[in-house]
Amino acid sequence: MDPPVSAHQSIWSAVDDYLISALHASDPVLDHAIVSSQTAGLPEIQVSETLGKFLHLLARIHHASRILEIGTLGGYSTIWLARALPPDGKLITIELDPEHAKVAQANLESAGVSDRVDLRLGAALDILPQIESDGESAFDFIFIDADKPSNVAYLEWALKLSRSGSVIVLDNVVRDGAIIEAESIDEKVRSSRAALEWLGNHPQIESTAVQTVGAKGYDGVAIALVK
Ligand code: SAH
Ligand code: DHB
Ligand code: MG
Repeated sequence: MDPPVSAHQSIWSAVDDYLISALHASDPVLDHAIVSSQTAGLPEIQVSETLGKFLHLLARIHHASRILEIGTLGGYSTIWLARALPPDGKLITIELDPEHAKVAQANLESAGVSDRVDLRLGAALDILPQIESDGESAFDFIFIDADKPSNVAYLEWALKLSRSGSVIVLDNVVRDGAIIEAESIDEKVRSSRAALEWLGNHPQIESTAVQTVGAKGYDGVAIALVK
């Protein structure tokens, strides 16, 4: 089943615009990160502005001082998360594509957060074992937003690099509602279902997911607490 082109998209976008005008300060630094990513031809799959600020607030509410992100793109979500850190906090973000990483590094510098952000270039499944063997201490907050087929492997790594009380957020788990299709042939749907089932069945994890609509369409995020 093809996802419908939603008749509701224009109102979702208009409501996002209203919420942003009512609740967010204008933010030329983040606007620049979007524009420079667009200009460089990056795919426009960064989190929406409201989800970016939601992640930022979640990290602040959790007093996260060590954040791990898998999937940097142009650094948009990275900037939101890095701004949640205390002055001595640290964020490691992993990106496979050198072009994306180059745009992200410039955006992080423009945003004044590059001192707190360690951008690692490479495949996450190569970098994550290095982070472990470097003896990095546990991450308080982990945002998983890269290639979907590796989501279960990323969750396993996230748990390994966590402590009791760590928060794990997994992006894109609703996919226009396609997530309910048990027999889907879409690899992103299959692997997102596998990731949700992994979360639901893991004895060390307490989790839920929220559906989201807005400027970026209909999708959702799972949130998990390590017990
Ligand atoms: N978190 C970003 C969006 C990330 S898009 C934001 O919201 O602003 C997903 C990113 O994951 C892309 O840049 C893609 O190149 C990267 N990616 C894909 N496969 C990867 C892998 N195996 N390891 C690390 N990054 C990967
Ligand atoms: C896709 C990936 C994302 O991380 C996202 O937020 C939206 C779309 C994608 O691969 O289609
Ligand atoms: Mg995403």
